[in-house]
Amino acid sequence: MGDLVLPLKTFYWKVNAQEPAEEVIKQAGEIIRQGGLVAFPTETVYGLGANVFDRKAIAKIFNAKGRPLDNPLIVHIAVLADIYQLSSSVSPLALYLAEVFWPGPLTLILPRPETVPAEVSAGLDTVAIRLPAHPVALALIRAADVPIAAPSANLSGCPSPTTAKHVWADLNGKIDAIIDGGPTEIGVESTVVDLTGAIPAILRPGKITPAEIEAVAGKVCLDPAAKGIITSFKTDTTSEKWRPRSPGMKYRHYAPRAPLYLIEGNVPQVTKYINELASRYQKAGLRVGIFTYKETAEHYRQGEVLVAGDRCEPASVAANLYRILRRFDELGVDLILAEGTPPVGVGLAVMNRLRRAAGNNIIRLGDNCWT
Ligand code: TXA
Ligand code: MG
Repeated sequence: MGDLVLPLKTFYWKVNAQEPAEEVIKQAGEIIRQGGLVAFPTETVYGLGANVFDRKAIAKIFNAKGRPLDNPLIVHIAVLADIYQLSSSVSPLALYLAEVFWPGPLTLILPRPETVPAEVSAGLDTVAIRLPAHPVALALIRAADVPIAAPSANLSGCPSPTTAKHVWADLNGKIDAIIDGGPTEIGVESTVVDLTGAIPAILRPGKITPAEIEAVAGKVCLDPAAKGIITSFKTDTTSEKWRPRSPGMKYRHYAPRAPLYLIEGNVPQVTKYINELASRYQKAGLRVGIFTYKETAEHYRQGEVLVAGDRCEPASVAANLYRILRRFDELGVDLILAEGTPPVGVGLAVMNRLRRAAGNNIIRLGDNCWT
């Protein structure tokens, strides 16, 4: 990748999310067509886009993010019919799921034709496709007139960006342009469903829950990675015992700079434990961040206490999750103690991200702790 030149500057364009200015979209589409990189808002998180058919532009994405080359990208389209440009075999079930959930936060894994560069899929014979529900994303794809390959627009391993400011902090000077369409609505990345096996498999949970997919697709299975526990495969990623179907799932990810300790269990035990840990660390002179919820925040009297949302409404937690993780770094805390939330519904997506941000630092309290 030695011949990849950095852009001279990163353009920053602010637009109305519902009706983005035509000149901005036109210019951004032109950048994509010329092989450049543009960050843009989607309904989940900001994406870093390039022309899917331009190998050099795809290489630039990996370079700008510092992304491991074995972690494949998602390809974004603006009209359902474009699915046929990107997959050699679109099953009736794939089409049905697309019709029900698109535009929206669902990514489908389908067989990849040779016309889609292998680099996009990190060499896999499958490709990830999604049709996002955001006027700016859709307008950009139309203006570019090609499907846009786009991972989240963060430095690899860092929390995904939910505002253009987050993208700027990570990628200014490394990409050609950022379109600022305000904060993203959902806050966690799309649900990824692999349709290449006998039973649809959820590889990454998101706003669209396993139950919602099951209601449309019949029986689905949850890939082991969907829970977000990476301890079982952290040390030996080449092991035959457990080879992730979604390569991105084998990395510690979504993580702030400060180490994050995730404490799972029932509320009284967890809040007591966090308070004890926080006192101990504070006495040792460390700055402690506490990640908590509206219902439980009053239990804490020390440290930087940040409320992510309502425990009983995990979608509200998802919406704030990455912003709060980044905020702890801005506050300069030395470590973060995070309260877990039950991994059901959208809570599964929240816990997937928190567990992966925690890496091995997960503490489970009580008998009925979530498995
Ligand atoms: O909501 C989203 O999906 C956002 C926005 C920008 O659309 N995108 C996003 O992309 O989250 P990224 O690259 O951060 O995550 C893509 C995930 C990774 O976990 C990757 O391993 C998985 O999708 N993936 C991509 N292609 C795959 C494939 N062919 N097979 C299995 N997993 C795949
Ligand atoms: Mg990502």
